Amino acid sequence: MSSDDHKRGYHQERGETPPPPSGCPVHQTWSPLNDDYLADPYEIAIQLQADHPTFYSQQLNYLVVTEMDEIDRIFTDHETFASVNVQDPVFPLSAEAQDVLAVPDYNPIAVMSNRPEPDHGRIRHFTRQGFSNRRIQTLEPYIRRRSNELIDTMMEAGSPAEFVEAFGFPLPGETVFRFIGFPETDDDQLKVWCAERKGFSWGNPTGAEQARIAADMVSYWRYCREFVAQKREHRGDDLASELITAHENHPDDLTYREVESIIYGLSFAGHEAVTALICNTLQCLLPRRDQWDQICNDPSLIPNAIEEVLRFNSSQISWRRITATDTTVGGFDVPAGTGIFLNFASAHRQTDIWDDPDKFDIHRPNANRHIAFGKGVHFCLGAKFAKFETGLMLEVLAERLPSLRLVEQAFDYFPNITFRGPEQLHLAWD
Ligand code: HEM
Repeated sequence: MSSDDHKRGYHQERGETPPPPSGCPVHQTWSPLNDDYLADPYEIAIQLQADHPTFYSQQLNYLVVTEMDEIDRIFTDHETFASVNVQDPVFPLSAEAQDVLAVPDYNPIAVMSNRPEPDHGRIRHFTRQGFSNRRIQTLEPYIRRRSNELIDTMMEAGSPAEFVEAFGFPLPGETVFRFIGFPETDDDQLKVWCAERKGFSWGNPTGAEQARIAADMVSYWRYCREFVAQKREHRGDDLASELITAHENHPDDLTYREVESIIYGLSFAGHEAVTALICNTLQCLLPRRDQWDQICNDPSLIPNAIEEVLRFNSSQISWRRITATDTTVGGFDVPAGTGIFLNFASAHRQTDIWDDPDKFDIHRPNANRHIAFGKGVHFCLGAKFAKFETGLMLEVLAERLPSLRLVEQAFDYFPNITFRGPEQLHLAWD
């Protein structure tokens, strides 16, 4: 175990930011939180890339990297480009929120996405074992059963329905809760505690909203600690039990606090982006009737269709890094401590990688060249899980409701810099 184990908390406040690198173009007004960008980021992202592949955003105080090659290079050089900032609030926390988090028993630590090497590799080794194909596949009966139950309830209420509330939000949360080992009886409470985390770290909430979310985070952390303590006494076939056993067998290589913190982090990692992915999938497929009909007639087309959604209309359109040393980015000299905003939205529409990239095509041969799951040592541990789960949900939806279609509607997107899926999705069927 490393000596700084307990020093780095789960969320850090951002310190002083270095000024824009010398000679680097500075964009005064663009922000991923601008209304036009939230509504449709792609055209704007492509134009930004054409203007300046790397530029500094004055609104964000981040260097924005828009091209795939440079994003790939940054992801794969984890020593120069640290991931310690990926869970941190983009904007300062209010005094009220800081007070809420200052309670002495709120002490989760960075363990996965925001933990540096070599500790990250040590912890990931154990966590990866819990993400075995076998364990993921044991979820299939549950996902099928709950998909059918939620569709039954939605159909009983009648067409049209609001899909996010009826299916898209509840099921991914429930699935990751079963994977971790949380009891079904706690689902409703857990969904409330975990629902608004994207606003906290990736949005621009008011001070009062930050404080409310912070209070939920404290409640959820206390729950996780109590849950791990109880699991220790009553093991099951779930990730939490496996991590506790790994800790007992290797107490110096995986600490008890690390086990608690992995559980704490996974509920968000495993929920938000999958909700967006199933909604974005329907948003892409339903208006393109020929492609939806092909999926309904041949479920073997689903895996590549999901890759194409992750490229064309990804549930995660950016991620962050921070420079650990003085270096160069996009040809500019950049000091240590510079925040880097990796813009997937522009990279996913590059014409030198994909033919006709603005077209959605479930048969695209290199659809999976996207970087929605990141790359390198922190590559998403739940990528297989997310695709498996979304594939099953889509299969059941296509089988039960082949006449599903979008109702005419305007889509709203929750203001944040990274996660993207419609807040509501109104669907009808015959
Ligand atoms: C569509 C769904 C998802 C997307 C788009 C997504 C995306 C990402 C991205 C971009 C990263 C950061 C990668 C990097 O820094 O290089 C990440 C990390 C991670 N994701 Fe996901 N994710 C999804 C679903 C899931 C699910 C379902 C789980 C768990 C059940 C999960 C667990 C994790 C974990 C544990 C990490 C940290 C890995 C590490 O640092 O070693 N994700 N994900």
